[in-house]
Amino acid sequence: MQYALVDIGIACEHLILQAQEEGLGACWLGWFDEKAVKRVLGIPKAQKVDIMLSLGYPEAQVARDKKRKPMDEIRRFS
Ligand SMILES: Cc1cc2nc3c(=O)[nH]c(=O)nc-3n(C[C@H](O)[C@H](O)[C@H](O)COP(=O)(O)O)c2cc1C
Repeated sequence: MQYALVDIGIACEHLILQAQEEGLGACWLGWFDEKAVKRVLGIPKAQKVDIMLSLGYPEAQVARDKKRKPMDEIRRFS
């Protein structure tokens, strides 16, 4: 288990929830060109970028309709 990645996930999710609370919108970004990101943001090559979050004020506060599988289809308690 890579606990560091779990910690990053927890920290990011808290950040996203707080952003939402303050009227901001956020989006997880896991698929990116790490090399290009480091170049653009001036991040040293030796450092690793595991995840990014975009953050900004949404045009509308209304969330779009979401298509979700029913909970019973994706969770199980044993
Ligand atoms: C760890 C993680 C990485 C993600 N990376 C990307 C990404 O690189 N690009 C993208 O379009 N969506 C990415 N997503 C999905 C979006 O952040 C978002 O969760 C998805 O669009 C569902 O949005 P919704 O909850 O409003 O339906 C990622 C989600 C997670 C949890």
